[in-house]
Amino acid sequence: MLDPEIYGPQESALKEEHIAGQLNGMTVQQLAKAHVCSNDAGVHQLVNHWLRTHACMEPFILAAHRQLSAMHPIFKLLDPHMRYTLEINALARQTLISADGVIENCFTPGRYCMEMSAAAYRSHWRFDKEGLPADLIRRGIAVPDPTQPHGLKLLIEDYPYASDGLLIWNALENWVRTYVNRYYPNSSLVCNDRELQQWYHESVHVGHADLSKESWWPSLKTTDDLVSILTTLIWLASAQHAALNFGQYPYGGYVPNRPPLMRRLIPDENDLEYANFLADPQKYFLSALPSLLQATKFMAVVDTLSTHSPDEEYLGERQHPSIWSGDAEIIEAFYGFSAEIRRIEKEIEKRNANPNLKNRCGAGVLPYELLAPSSGPGVTCRGVPNSVSI
Ligand SMILES: [Fe+2]
Repeated sequence: MLDPEIYGPQESALKEEHIAGQLNGMTVQQLAKAHVCSNDAGVHQLVNHWLRTHACMEPFILAAHRQLSAMHPIFKLLDPHMRYTLEINALARQTLISADGVIENCFTPGRYCMEMSAAAYRSHWRFDKEGLPADLIRRGIAVPDPTQPHGLKLLIEDYPYASDGLLIWNALENWVRTYVNRYYPNSSLVCNDRELQQWYHESVHVGHADLSKESWWPSLKTTDDLVSILTTLIWLASAQHAALNFGQYPYGGYVPNRPPLMRRLIPDENDLEYANFLADPQKYFLSALPSLLQATKFMAVVDTLSTHSPDEEYLGERQHPSIWSGDAEIIEAFYGFSAEIRRIEKEIEKRNANPNLKNRCGAGVLPYELLAPSSGPGVTCRGVPNSVSI
């Protein structure tokens, strides 16, 4: 009760009504925010993380093992970017995306989770838009600009994922171009390489059979085609997956802040539930959140997914650069790529310390390190491994 001696009886009543309205308003807003978060968590997990990196890489990896000899230069290039992906996908099928598995139990769409993932694949996924520049343009946050090194201009300059990602995209593209030009000095060599053609044909027509008739598939006839296809694959396996995966616990592990699931809808004013909501909005909110068991399972899984193993191999590192022994030019080019990745890491550090970049630096703002290439083991919210390995 506000003091009528200070406010006067009428003003006091008006203010109380206002505060009560604000409190309820805030709570409705928080409830709405929680629902937005739970929907976003579903899109993140089912479409962007599982579908666009783990699942869509798998056909290319399977076909590489079936069609390319271990001595083939493209197999050697892709090898570190295929590490552990088939293993982690097999584990995901057993316990995460399986019927009644963790994903169905902990995300709002429940038993329709995989159906939604499949629908997004059928209606939205396009390999030719999966590279970073094409994806940013498709999402309406960049426009083509031939004067820029990566051929586009960001409409939001202080967008950490995009601006750091473009540094990595450029480094990958330069490395892949040097590599491809070394082994395929002209496009006829690309056309006449049977193993290479069979690899791509099987990836598209067997692995991605449901979409194989789509006209947007890039052809593989020139060295430029090969550079573009390989850069996209390595981008998806490394930086794109890292940006989606390793922040899951640090950014989303606290369930009340970002619930993956809401068990009660926002009540309509004519609904009986609305009275319950008005009587105690906080209780209503808490009862809408995942159950204790659901929340615990979800937290355990995203904690595991966000963890780097001690034997992780990061972008710019290779266990065996000697795989190219006898080809000093390529070994040197690889070390040049490694040096560029280290330079990018320093640039990201500088950006995170720049107070003009308010989306990554300032009071209460987390630095954006998801695309900082190196990391120690554990949950570090940074580090770009070579492959989709968790
Ligand atoms: Fe992952």
